[in-house]
Parts: sequence; C-alpha cells; structure tokens
Amino acid sequence: MQHKGFTLWLTGMSGAGKSTISDQIMARFREGGAKVELLDGDIVRTNLSQGLGFSREDRDINIRRIGFVAEMLSRNGVIAVVAAISPYRATRDEVKAKIGNFLEVFVDCPVEVLSQRDVKGLYKKALAGEVGNFTGISDPYEPPTNPDVTVRSDRETLDESVGKVWAELLRRGWVEGA
Ligand code: ADX
Repeated sequence: MQHKGFTLWLTGMSGAGKSTISDQIMARFREGGAKVELLDGDIVRTNLSQGLGFSREDRDINIRRIGFVAEMLSRNGVIAVVAAISPYRATRDEVKAKIGNFLEVFVDCPVEVLSQRDVKGLYKKALAGEVGNFTGISDPYEPPTNPDVTVRSDRETLDESVGKVWAELLRRGWVEGA
C-alpha cells in the first residue's frame, strides 16, 4: 500500500464508536504495511495527558497535545489516526489548520441511543449527577459544520462506516493500491 502522511481525526461523543471504527481502520492500514499510529483519547489520557480533567481548558490542552503529535507524524509520512471526543469546533479547526492533510470524520449517534447502550456505564452516572461535565449530558458537544465524512453508527454497520472513510481516502489519493 502506498500512502501519504495525513491525520484521520474521528470526533464524536463517548460510546459513539470512534475507537471501534479506528481499530478496524488500523487493522486495514497494518495489513497493507502502512506506517500508522493511533492516538486514542482514553489511552492518551493515561500517559501524555495524565492528570487532565474534562473542563473546557483541560480538553483543549488534550486536543492540542494530540494535534501536536499528529502533525509531527503526518509531516513525516506517517498516518495518524485520532479517536477523541474533541467537543469544541474551534479547537478542532485550529488543529486542522496546523496539520493540513486532515480528514475529519464525524461519528454521529443520538445521545438517547448512547445513553441506552452505555457500554462504560458513564451516561447513567452522568444522569445521576455522579460524573460532572459529561459530554452530551452536562457538557457541550459541538458537531462539525462541514465534516469530510459522517458516519451514523446507530444506522450503519461497522463495515459500512469503515467503507465510507476508506472511499474518501482513495478518492483523495491519500491511500493507493489498497
Ligand atoms: S476529550 O473531550 O478531551 O476529547 P477524550 O476523548 O480524551 O475527551 O476522553 C473521553 C473519554 O473519557 C470518554 O470516552 C470516557 O471514557 C471518559 N470520560 C470520563 N469523564 C468524562 C466526561 N466528563 N466527559 C466525557 N468523557 C469522559
């Protein structure tokens, strides 16, 4: 597989499927022998962003750090896959402008569905007031106004969602021979 350096940025609420979709995409990139790294919010918060909370300020620091690393990777021919809520439009746009080769994927799912699924049990806690500043419940999520790809994880299969992202990468010529 031939590829450029670029950043594939998945934004969306907790539990929407960002990590699941990025894991599938990572597997496809690796099968093709691509140089690729994953920056997943949950993992970044255990090392690079350890100690940060969920205030706007801390989320913005987290997103700028992730953006900083993604830019370095992309500039050096590596694919950076990012899976982070990244709830603030202005901060995503700022990172996008710095990186250049940036594909924004909006992983959309209604908050009612997310609260019902509640894989991590966090929506229940947020609704009970046990977890504060929870995205979509007691904290904002600003959807992208013009995302490059939108996937609706409650209406599409995982394969369909991954296929949409892949088709856009091929269309742009960022990935070839896959
Ligand atoms: S971001 O807002 O800074 O982009 P990030 O993607 O790194 O968030 O981390 C989100 C993860 O942290 C969620 O998937 C969830 O597991 C956990 N989490 C814990 N508290 C919160 C909260 N208040 N709001 C959102 N996610 C939270």
